[in-house]
This record gives sequence, C-alpha cells and structure tokens, in this order.
Amino acid sequence: MGAVDEAGIRITSRYAPDASVVFHRGNCLDLLRTLPARAARLIVTSPPYNLGKAYERRRPLDTYLAEQARVIAECDRVLADGGSICWQVGNHVAGGEVFPLDILLYPLFKRHGLALRNRIVWHFEHGLHCARRFSGRHETILWFTRPDYVFRLDPVRVPQKYPGKRHYKGPRAGQFSCHPLGKNPGDVWVIPNVKHNHVEKTLHPCQFPVELVERLVLALTDRGDLVLDPYMGVGSTAVAAVRHDRRTVGAETDPHYVRIARTRVRAAARGRLRTRPLGRPIYTPSARHAVARRPEAPTITGAPG
Ligand SMILES: C[S@@+](CC[C@H](N)C(=O)[O-])C[C@H]1O[C@@H](n2cnc3c(N)ncnc32)[C@H](O)[C@@H]1O
Repeated sequence: MGAVDEAGIRITSRYAPDASVVFHRGNCLDLLRTLPARAARLIVTSPPYNLGKAYERRRPLDTYLAEQARVIAECDRVLADGGSICWQVGNHVAGGEVFPLDILLYPLFKRHGLALRNRIVWHFEHGLHCARRFSGRHETILWFTRPDYVFRLDPVRVPQKYPGKRHYKGPRAGQFSCHPLGKNPGDVWVIPNVKHNHVEKTLHPCQFPVELVERLVLALTDRGDLVLDPYMGVGSTAVAAVRHDRRTVGAETDPHYVRIARTRVRAAARGRLRTRPLGRPIYTPSARHAVARRPEAPTITGAPG
C-alpha cells in the first residue's frame, strides 16, 4: 500500500486524511469516488484533449464532453469551501477545424454554480508549425472557484517594470508608487512549454511545466491543504504541491507515468528535482550566438505582386 523512503515522504495508493501523497493507478473517476466531499482546496489538471495522443482514445466530441462532465461533477463534489478548480486546456482539432476546449467546457463548470475568476492565457514560443492556419502558441487555464475563495497574491508577485517610479504630486509625492513586493502577474503567463531540452522533460509527450502549477498552488492554497490532479501524468502537480508543503492526490491510467511520478516526487521531497524556477525570465538569444544570426537576407517567395 505505502512506502516511506529516506526523504520521509509516504506515497500511498488510497486516500486517507493524513496521507501526504496519494497516487492512484487507474481511472480518475474511481479515485474521485473514494474522496470525501469538500476535501480538496485546489484541483488543477490538464485532461486529454481528445486528439488521439498515445495516452488517449479519440472518440466523438460529444462522448468526450460527456466524460469530462462526469469528472467535473465529481471534482465539484470534492472541492472544499474556498477552493479552486484550474482546468488547463488547448484545442481539440478535427478535419483542420479548431474547437477551443475552454469554450466547450465552460458550461460544465457553470452548471455547478462555480464562478470563473480568470481565463488565464498561457503563452509559449515553441510548438508545431502550421501551414494552413497560424501556429498555436497559447493554451488557457479556466480558474473557477467557490464563493469566498482563497487568493494569496503576495507569494506570486512578479518584479515591477519601474520599481523606482514615485508619485509626482499629491499627499504621497516623492514616495514609491509601486507595491514593494512586486506586481500582480496578470492573466497572460509566458512560460516555456516542456519540449526537447527543457530541464523537466520526461518521456511524457504533454507535461505542463512545474512553475505553472507552483504559481497556482502558492496563490490558491495554504500549507497542509490538499491539491488534486485527476489526470496527473508524470506528477508535475504533485511535485509543485510537495515542494510547498501541500498534500496531494492524483490519478493516472498509464503505470509507466505513475512510476516516473513517484521518482520525481521523491526527488522533489529531497530537494533534488531540477525544475525551471518560477519567475525566471524567458531566454533571449544574443546576436553573438551563431544560431541567432542569419548569414544572408532571406528571399521571400510567394508574396503577392
Ligand atoms: C495531458 S496529460 C497530463 C500531463 C500532466 N499534466 C503532467 O504534467 O505530466 C493527460 C494524462 O491523463 C491520463 N489519462 C487519460 N485518461 C485518464 C483517466 N480516465 N484517468 C486518469 N488518467 C487519465 C493520460 O495517460 C495522460 O498522462
């Protein structure tokens, strides 16, 4: 059932109120049905997008949405007072047509009386190059809450653009005008996606970056709270939760991914898992690097005459 490793982290396969990490190998609905009502302060996940990836079966869109509705209903049942659900999705694509999953899923949360607080745009710079439409460079996070939700801004503030700016008139003239701890990170998050040589890359084809989850964990939970990921993949949510002293529960159908999640979470508990740090600026190549220079001016072909 469980194990205690040298880091003292105990990973169990069944929920208990004092369990710090629970990984269920199997369907998330089976896990969700074992969780007590109102147990999780944060539910954060990236479900399959019904694209026919290696880890999913492509089915009619209506069937997919009906399955999502069942999972979302269970998530609503286990969501604590003051809690949040963050559903990170991109597009379903069929016959070259794009179906934005956040638009299709929105009513499935609203029917439970949850309120949307932000539709966060996650922008990244790399991905597939499209020939018949603009290349996709963002996905979204639907952040829904119960009333009176937890929101801690200070732990996730980012550096001000002009920290030295001062009020130039009025009673506070001469004083700094910016918040000393930094500014609100806004609802457009520029975070590299986990591709090729990203430090967090495992063999999973669609991990989300740990820093994306860390920001949500820090803003929407307190120490000791339970963070749930029904489609946990290789445990990126669990890594963020453990690193910040939250308890965590997740489900994953692929046993290989569960094994990787266990290894990652143990390394995180020992402070030995390398991840891209929250808040690190996006890398801009210098013109001194050969790959950032083009040796000759390009010839533009196919431009209208
Ligand atoms: C988009 S990936 C999530 C990746 C994860 N965010 C990470 O960083 O590793 C979706 C995952 O859901 C798993 N999955 C698909 N159907 C599932 C189900 N019914 N219950 C639990 N996991 C499922 C897939 O195997 C896949 O690993």
